Amino acid sequence: MVFYAILWHSLVPILQKNRYNKFKNQTIMTIKENILDLLRTINRQGMDKVIDWLKDSDFFVAPASTNFHGNYEGGLAEHSFNVYQAAIQLREAALKLNPTLEPQLPTDSIIIASLLHDVCKVDVYKIRQRKNELGVWEECDSYTVDYSKFPLGHGEKSVILLLKLGLELTDAEIAAIRWHMTAWYLPFQSREILGNINAAKNKYSLCSLIQMADGFAASLMEEKKA
Ligand SMILES: [Fe+2]
Ligand SMILES: [Fe+2]
Repeated sequence: MVFYAILWHSLVPILQKNRYNKFKNQTIMTIKENILDLLRTINRQGMDKVIDWLKDSDFFVAPASTNFHGNYEGGLAEHSFNVYQAAIQLREAALKLNPTLEPQLPTDSIIIASLLHDVCKVDVYKIRQRKNELGVWEECDSYTVDYSKFPLGHGEKSVILLLKLGLELTDAEIAAIRWHMTAWYLPFQSREILGNINAAKNKYSLCSLIQMADGFAASLMEEKKA
């Protein structure tokens, strides 16, 4: 009887973890398919290469951050898909209020800018290791970050990676991806960069829309794992 009690107590966390992992893996796979299906609808030079690169990278399993939103496996893809969903809803609301915006907010651009704005986070996160009580290194449930492979910044790095892959981007898409972090960056920027951000927002409605969608997804749709 005692044996079964011990067995049960030792199995419960494993079963729960497996059940969680199974659910988590299903969620990751669904998000992955949704993202790839959307990207495949884009008839644009270089998109095939971008899709192959994403599939070979850690894009679909990486976290979105170490300490903030989406700080868990699959967080980056989940965040990217959330930004897409928020951007589509915001576009609809914006066009109801101001239909003249339609030519500036094509759905192809929404798909590209929202799903690919954070590709700068590919290949920078690693699962944290720590020594257990036996002195053996083991993986923990959190991440470290290392930017040293291609240290170019954030939005600008996403743009450069996509252009290096040969993806044809419009000027509005480049601006939207480059400046998607505006809300977080503003207090830290030089006069020149602030001038560029304002000019980009004035010139490209897509820029404002992606900024809003990014902030909306991170603050209102996503969780931080304790
Ligand atoms: Fe970002
Ligand atoms: Fe983001």
